[in-house]
Amino acid sequence: MLRKMNYTLLLVIGGSLGILPAMAQRLPNRFPFPNAAGLLETYNTRNEPIDLNGPFFQALGTNGRSCGSCHRPGQGWSISADEVRIRFDLTQGRDPIFRTNDGSTCDHDIDTSTVQARRKAYRLLLKRGLIRIALTVPDKAEFNVVSVVNPYGCDDTQTLSVYRRPLPATNLRFLSTVMWDGRESSAQTGTQKITYSTNPGDLLADLAHQALDAVSGHAQGSTPLTAQQQQEIVDFETALVTAQAYDYRAGALDGAGAAGGPMPIARQTMPAFFIGINDPLGGNPKGTPFTPVVFNLFDAWANKPWVDRDTWERRQDRRASILRGQTLFNSKPITVTGVGGLNDDLNLPSMQVTCGTCHDSSNVGNHSLSVPLNIGVSDPDSPLGVNYLPVITLQNKTTYEIKRTTDPGRALITGQWKDIGKVKGPILRGLASRAPYFHNGSAKSLGDVLDFYNARFNIGFTAQEKEDLIAFLDAL
Ligand code: HEC
Ligand code: HEC
Repeated sequence: MLRKMNYTLLLVIGGSLGILPAMAQRLPNRFPFPNAAGLLETYNTRNEPIDLNGPFFQALGTNGRSCGSCHRPGQGWSISADEVRIRFDLTQGRDPIFRTNDGSTCDHDIDTSTVQARRKAYRLLLKRGLIRIALTVPDKAEFNVVSVVNPYGCDDTQTLSVYRRPLPATNLRFLSTVMWDGRESSAQTGTQKITYSTNPGDLLADLAHQALDAVSGHAQGSTPLTAQQQQEIVDFETALVTAQAYDYRAGALDGAGAAGGPMPIARQTMPAFFIGINDPLGGNPKGTPFTPVVFNLFDAWANKPWVDRDTWERRQDRRASILRGQTLFNSKPITVTGVGGLNDDLNLPSMQVTCGTCHDSSNVGNHSLSVPLNIGVSDPDSPLGVNYLPVITLQNKTTYEIKRTTDPGRALITGQWKDIGKVKGPILRGLASRAPYFHNGSAKSLGDVLDFYNARFNIGFTAQEKEDLIAFLDAL
């Protein structure tokens, strides 16, 4: 174990410096990466090592970046703010992730001449793991942009700058929407909506398109990817499944009959998974009724006692806590009000739901249909505090109503007033490796995520419930 850990450190540091030792040009399958709660593993379902030389890790544009600059195996194929800070320190802010096209707070009038200046220019990336996304307001939008108050410049009202977390480039076969705002799976952008009858062809086409956009955008590519490069990237990323595999206190997450870790996810793809599975609002194409029991990974731990002699008492406590967290996720009643895409669409001002109503896809936790929601994470008065973000004021062209937001979300794709602030519910696996959370990095920890829900929906979590839910989320 100890030797494995040292090797991991070497890889993490070596990978950051771009001087991976020859043996690490390929990452052994299921290589364990440490995080604060335990070890994260990625299983390549092609059952071969993860090739760190393939197109996903090549600088295919002009600024030195690869997909791997922002989608790192050790950070759940996203980035964590902690790891970005280490990368900054090791390279004095010169690693290719630090580029002014979208890594800095704005793309013009930015001083990057000294380490100090770079620390300032990249402060949202360093503190929150955020990338600047510039999106043009659709021609026929139902609203005008009245003003943009952006503390970093970039206050254009036609092309809006929003700041978002890289989504994990793993477990992709379960996606019902590509990107936070679904812009790579929407008719409006010439990409394909993901549906039961067209899946997975729709998803694969969307991901190929997404790779093209990522190279021309993030990597400032001057020549488009070849069809073969696109194909290789999509083949590579869709073969990956990732999950927490080991918890320092509970032990192996697939131990004593439990089903944590990446292997059970690999067994769960088609036909066990399909678009619309377990949808709570009648969207399941097979008509099976919704069950709030979305996760059952740790059910086996209900059967005590476990037989690991020397450490069993310590493990028992932690396993019991993870199991209680799973039960809370599956059953804790939450009264939701004012959620765009839910309360308004159903015309129900107040609804009693559970975590799984929105995170309905079994043992994965995203929404199994494309259902963008506004739970309030982008509101300027979000309980988590988002004053590090711009405030964008929009006015409805017909009713003259005013809305203020830090990210219009889906509305920048559809142009629809009712879509302001809506984003997708992301996959909830490999969380422990990729803080901060929410699309704008406003939750620095899983505790912050729960504090948000607690404040937003008046849930009244006890300290014990919060601890158990964190233990569970850390084990995903
Ligand atoms: C500079 C950082 C950066 C680079 C480089 C980058 N990405 Fe991303 N990626 C992001 C961000 C940020 C998002 C989310 C943006 C949004 O939703 O608005 C994202 C989203 C994605 C998603 C969507 C996942 C989902 O759940 O919807 C995929 C897939 C992806 N990237 C793959 C790639 C590939 C392939 C490459 C290389 C060709 C790449 N990325 C390069 C930052 C980056
Ligand atoms: C009303 C729908 C809804 C409910 C109920 C809900 N969520 Fe979410 N959840 C979302 C949406 C939408 C997002 C994405 C929000 C964003 O990033 O702006 C999200 C994001 C998250 C994230 C962050 C994931 C990431 O990668 O950043 C976690 C963790 C999470 N939810 C856990 C939970 C837990 C635990 C519960 C129950 C206590 C819960 N959610 C209840 C809709 C919901």
